[in-house]
Amino acid sequence: MSKLVNLVSEGAGKVDPVSVSDYEGVGGYAGLKKAVGLTAEQVIGEVKKAKLLGRGGAAYPAGNKWEHLLRIPETPKYIVCNADEGEPGTFKDKLILGQLPLKLIEGITIAGYVFGAKAGYIYVRGEYRKIQKKLIQAIDNAKKAGYLGQNVLGKGFDFDIHVISGAGAYVCGENSALLNSTEGKVGRPRIKPPHLAEVGLFLQPTLVNNVESLSSVPAIVLKGGEEFLNIGHPDSGGTKLICLSGHAAKPGVYEIPLGKVTLRDAIYDPEMGGGLKGGKQLKFYHLGGQSGPIGPASLLDTPYSYTDLRKAGLTVGSGAIVVMDETVSIIDYLKGVTEFFIHESCGKCVPCREGNKQLYAILQKLSVPGGADENDLANLRRLVTAMTAASFCGLGQSASVALNTAWKHFKDEFEANVTKTAAAAA
Ligand SMILES: Cc1cc2nc3c(=O)[nH]c(=O)nc-3n(C[C@H](O)[C@H](O)[C@H](O)COP(=O)(O)O)c2cc1C
Ligand code: SF4
Repeated sequence: MSKLVNLVSEGAGKVDPVSVSDYEGVGGYAGLKKAVGLTAEQVIGEVKKAKLLGRGGAAYPAGNKWEHLLRIPETPKYIVCNADEGEPGTFKDKLILGQLPLKLIEGITIAGYVFGAKAGYIYVRGEYRKIQKKLIQAIDNAKKAGYLGQNVLGKGFDFDIHVISGAGAYVCGENSALLNSTEGKVGRPRIKPPHLAEVGLFLQPTLVNNVESLSSVPAIVLKGGEEFLNIGHPDSGGTKLICLSGHAAKPGVYEIPLGKVTLRDAIYDPEMGGGLKGGKQLKFYHLGGQSGPIGPASLLDTPYSYTDLRKAGLTVGSGAIVVMDETVSIIDYLKGVTEFFIHESCGKCVPCREGNKQLYAILQKLSVPGGADENDLANLRRLVTAMTAASFCGLGQSASVALNTAWKHFKDEFEANVTKTAAAAA
C-alpha cells in the first residue's frame, strides 16, 4: 500500500493551474464556501483542532497565531504569505505556486475573511519569475469568478491579493525582513517584540504564514480540524510536503502523513527517494535546509513527525531532506553550508557577519592534514555558542546547527586533521 497521500497536493499536475473551473473540478473553493458560513472563531477553532504547525520552518502552531491576531482590535489587518522559499534543498512551495496556485489563493482568502482584511500579499522568491506570472493570472481569474475582489461570493466582504517579488536574499524569508522588503525598505530583520501580529505590515496587525500552511487551510475547513489531525500525528495534524535532493535516486517533492512514515521510508521507499544514486551507502542527511540538523544512518528509523524528530535531536524545518552518500567529507560539506551563510548574512550584526567567516576559516584548517590544533577546535565550539546566543535574527542563530549536529555524530572527522598541542600530548 502506498505511504504517500494527496491532501495539500490534491489536483497538482491534473489541472490547468490558472483555470478556476478545473480547480473547482477537484474540490476547489469548497473550503471557502464553507468558511463564509462560519464565524471567525469557528474557523480558528478548526485550525486549532487540526494542530497545524507552521510549515515554513519554525513550526509555530497556526491556530495560536490566528487566535492572537483575532483578539487585536486595530484595523486594517493584513494577510501576508511567505513564498520566499530561499532555503536550499527546499522546493515544495514551488509545487503549490506553480501547479496549484488557486489552492493557496483560496487559503489566503479564508484568512482574509476570518480577519476582515481587505488585502493580502504573496511575497514570492525572485527566481520564480515564470511562476509569478501564473500566480497573477490565477488571481485575475479568481476575481473574474467572484472569489476575489468586491463582495466575495456575494457575502459582502471585499478582498484582493497582490504579488510582490523578492530579489533573491535568503534573509528576506525571515518574516520581519520580508515585511520590510514588501514595504520597499531594505530587507533586514526588525527587532521583536513588538510581535508582527501587533505591528506588522505598514505597522498594522498582520498574519504571516507559509505557502504550505495557508494551502492546508481549505482542507482543514472542509474536512474539519479533527479529521485533518487524524491524518497526521497526534501533536501535529495533516501532511508534510518533503523535498528529497542531493544523492537521492529519485529527487522530488512527496506528500507524507506526519508521523506515519520514517526517515528510512522517505529516503529508501521506491515511491519516494528510492535509495541512493548508483546504489551507494548513505553517510548522512541534512534536514530542513541549511539551518537544520545533520543526521546519521543510525537514526533512520525515526518517524517523520515534529515530535519524534525533535526527540532524536533532528527537525522537520522546511521539509528538505538532502541525502549525502559515503563519498562526502563532512568538513567539506560544512564548508559549503558556511559559505552559504557568509553570502547570505545581511551584515547587520557582528556575531553572524564575522562569526560565519571565522567558522569557515577554522573549517578550512580542519580540512587539511595537520592544518589545525586543539585550540582551533575549542575556538570552533566557542564561536558556535556565541553566534547562537548573540545573533540578531534566526539566520545567525541557526547558522551553526548543521555544524553542531555534525560534531555530535561525526566528531572523528573534526579531529582527524588536528595536531595535539604539546600540553595535551604530555
Ligand atoms: C533566515 C530565515 C529565512 C526564512 N525563510 C523562510 C522562507 O523562505 N519561507 C518561509 O515560509 N519561512 C521562512 N522563514 C520562517 C519565517 O520567519 C516564519 O516563521 C514563517 O514565514 C511563518 O509561517 P508559518 O508559521 O506558516 O511557517 C525563515 C526564517 C529565517 C530566520
Ligand atoms: S543574524 Fe544579524 S547579520 Fe545575520 S542575517 Fe540576521 S540580522 Fe543579519
